Amino acid sequence: MLDQEARVWSRLLAWDYSSSSEMILRYVDAKILPGYAAIEDKRIRGYSFFVYEQSKGVIGDLFVAPPNTNGGGHQLEDSLLLHVIETLQQSPGIHRIEAQLLIHNSDTVARPFLDGGFRRFPRLFMLLPVRGEDAPPIPPISLPAALELRKWTEQDFQAAAGIITAAYRGHVDAEINDQYRSHSGSLRFLNNIVRFPGCGIFDPDSSFVAVHRLTRAVVGLILCSRVRSDVGHVTQVCVVPEYRGKQVGAALMIAAVNALKRHNFAALSLTVTEANTRAVDLYKQLGFSIKRVFDAFVWEG
Ligand SMILES: CC(C)(COP(=O)(O)OP(=O)(O)OC[C@H]1O[C@@H](n2cnc3c(N)ncnc32)[C@H](O)[C@@H]1OP(=O)(O)O)[C@@H](O)C(=O)NCCC(=O)NCCS
Repeated sequence: MLDQEARVWSRLLAWDYSSSSEMILRYVDAKILPGYAAIEDKRIRGYSFFVYEQSKGVIGDLFVAPPNTNGGGHQLEDSLLLHVIETLQQSPGIHRIEAQLLIHNSDTVARPFLDGGFRRFPRLFMLLPVRGEDAPPIPPISLPAALELRKWTEQDFQAAAGIITAAYRGHVDAEINDQYRSHSGSLRFLNNIVRFPGCGIFDPDSSFVAVHRLTRAVVGLILCSRVRSDVGHVTQVCVVPEYRGKQVGAALMIAAVNALKRHNFAALSLTVTEANTRAVDLYKQLGFSIKRVFDAFVWEG
C-alpha cells in the first residue's frame, strides 16, 4: 500500500517517497504510529495517521488507493479524516491540530476539516527546471555590498532559529506552523529538516546563509533537501525584515539553483502559501510555475 502511495508522490510531486516510507514502517513496527485504516473485503483500502508533538497533533498522511470506487467522491477520505480529527480533538491536552495534504487537490478533502472548525490555507506546489531546455535563464542579482553568502554549517542552528522566529513574526505561515512562533519551536523545525528524512534528505551543498561581512550576523537563509535523486526542494527560505526588498531572498534562491545545477539536479520544488504574495512573486520572477494547489488546515481548541 505504501508503494502505491509512493507512486502517487512520484507522479504528482517528483518526490521519492522511500525514505518517508521507511520512517513510517519503523514507526508502525514499533507500534507508535496512531491512525486509522479503511478495510474492504479484508484488504486495506486507505489510511490516515498522525503524530503527537507536545500539545499539538499533526496529521501526517491521508491515502486512499486508486481507483476510488465510490463514484469519484471522497467518502473514504472523509471518513478516515473524521476519525482522525475526532480522536485528536478528544485527546486530553491537545489544543492544536495541523495538517498539510500535498497529494490532495485544494478543497477535495476540506469538508471534515471545515465541519470540525479548522481554518483552511491554500498552498502552492511550485517547480523550477534547473537544467535542460525548459530551464529559464537566471537573472543577474547583486547583493548589498555589506553582505555575502556562505554555505550552511552545523554551527548555524541557533542563529537560524533566531532568523526564522524574526522572519515569521505576524506572518501567515506562523498561523499554519506554530513552531515558527518561538526560538525553541524554530530549533525543533530546523532539527527535523536537517537531521530527519521526513521532508527529503537535507542537502548542505545547496543550503546557504546570508551574513553581514563585518559583524558576521546572519540575516537570511535557504535550506534545501533532496526529494528525488535529481530533484531538490526548498524547505526554508527567509530574510529578516530589515533586509527585505534588497534582493537577498533572490540571491539565496539563485545560489541554491546554481549549486543544484552543478550537481546535475534537474529541478527544484517548493511549497508556498498562496496568500504570501511577496514570496510567490519572487518565485514566479525566478521562473517557478505552479504545479498543484493543496490545503493546509489548522484547528485551535
Ligand atoms: C520571501 C522573502 C524570502 C523574500 O526575500 P527578499 O530579500 O525580501 O526578496 P527580494 O528582495 O529578493 O525580492 C525579490 C522579489 O520579491 C518581490 N518583493 C520584494 N519586496 C516586495 C514587497 N515589498 N512587496 C511585494 N513584493 C516584493 C518582488 O517581486 C521582488 O522583485 P523586485 O526586486 O524585482 O521587485 C522574504 O520576504 C521573507 O523572508 N519573508 C518571510 C518568510 C517567507 O515568507 N519565506 C518564504 C516562505 S515560502
